[in-house]
Amino acid sequence: MEMLAEKLEKGYVWLSILVLVAFFAAIIYASVVLAVVVPGDSGQIVPKRGETLFAAVSRTKPFDQPGVHQTGPNSYDVVVLGQAWMFNPAAIELPVGAEVTFWGTSIDIDHGLYIPGTTVNIMLLPGQIGKQRYRFSRPGQYRIICHEYCGMLHHQMTGTLTVK
Ligand code: CUA
Repeated sequence: MEMLAEKLEKGYVWLSILVLVAFFAAIIYASVVLAVVVPGDSGQIVPKRGETLFAAVSRTKPFDQPGVHQTGPNSYDVVVLGQAWMFNPAAIELPVGAEVTFWGTSIDIDHGLYIPGTTVNIMLLPGQIGKQRYRFSRPGQYRIICHEYCGMLHHQMTGTLTVK
């Protein structure tokens, strides 16, 4: 007959395996289902000696021209700068079916770019280039919100994205 200690030990082994599985499931869920993008190998903008981050971002493609740029028959680059406490541009318009590549960075502190109702969810970190694709298949009005606490007017850091 099994000793109580052995039973408990088996229980804890299974528990630790379960915790590991839950961890990996959470990571896979975040990266695949929620499509969370952490700063990756998309690039980094490093100011030269004596240069401000804003100046460095402003001379670096595609951030030298924030806004919507058509790149193909149905594809668009949307270039967004985060800053305290606004998005540049604050209003974005796209046609239905647009295949969008979002490019984002911050010119000052940590911000976020989140569009509820979509999988667009990018960290905007100073000088770090964030990139994510999304297809807008239905017309509608979306809100763009900063979902990274960035100070006094964080709650007012919003924008709009209109698909028509
Ligand atoms: Cu920007 Cu919160």
